[in-house]
Amino acid sequence: MQPINDRHYSLIIGAGSGIGGAVIQRLAREQPGDGILAVSRAPLALPASVQQFVCDYSEAGIDHLVREMAPMQGWIRQLVISTGILHTDAIKPEKRAEELNMSNMLEVLRINSVMPAYWLMSLLNILRGEEPCRVFVLSARVGSISDNHKGGWYSYRASKAALNMVIKTAAIEYARRAPNVKLVAFHPGTVDTNLSKPFQRNVPEDKLFDVDFVASKLLSLATTLPIDGEASYLDWAGKPISW
Ligand SMILES: NC(=O)c1ccc[n+]([C@@H]2O[C@H](COP(=O)([O-])OP(=O)(O)OC[C@H]3O[C@@H](n4cnc5c(N)ncnc54)[C@H](OP(=O)(O)O)[C@@H]3O)[C@@H](O)[C@H]2O)c1
Repeated sequence: MQPINDRHYSLIIGAGSGIGGAVIQRLAREQPGDGILAVSRAPLALPASVQQFVCDYSEAGIDHLVREMAPMQGWIRQLVISTGILHTDAIKPEKRAEELNMSNMLEVLRINSVMPAYWLMSLLNILRGEEPCRVFVLSARVGSISDNHKGGWYSYRASKAALNMVIKTAAIEYARRAPNVKLVAFHPGTVDTNLSKPFQRNVPEDKLFDVDFVASKLLSLATTLPIDGEASYLDWAGKPISW
């Protein structure tokens, strides 16, 4: 993989997600001269200009892809990590103590906290450079410890709180080793995707966002946020959330 001179590159990990996919579509439409690198577990129908990479998100799979991306060092201006699960056929967010299951909780933590942590650590050298680079890791407001008044969803909440701590901690190391990078734990609001489908019933219509709306909000933050060496926890409107 070789970068083309003077091109800005965006890397989207979790290109198969509703939100990540919308970011790709918007970038392809609005910034056609820029490079888009998309990572997903399976090949996707994406605009022809997008460079696709398939990765099983295992440690070896991530290592392999990061080695392949080494020539991109200093060229990536925005990274979006949009992977995450709330439910699967076997996993449901817990409503009460009796529903907690150790292997399900470990699986949610593996996908929502450990995997993005490994991406963040592995990409440090590639993101380091002269030009600003903004990184949006899809978190959630329910990962806020101080904002937890409703309870429930033990595994998902814990996984996003752990993810937030990883982002906070990584920002300290990035500030030292890759000070051109800004890290953001991003809450997209409730967005109409597979992830939120089973939980949309009580969401007022004007609070259920379309994926393209959230993609536009994320991408406007991606051009304006100051590179200040700190992690930010922001919602879709750019408003800070307390950790
Ligand atoms: N939708 C919402 O209302 C909402 C609200 C708050 C936060 N978020 C967060 O936003 C992010 C994106 O959510 P979305 O709504 O766009 O979700 P989505 O459409 O369901 O996409 C899920 C993503 O997670 C990856 N994924 C799913 N199962 C996986 C597994 N078993 N192993 C590894 N990766 C797996 C998929 O990877 P591939 O790309 O490889 O297919 C895909 O990128 C998530 O982190 C979510 O927690 C969403």
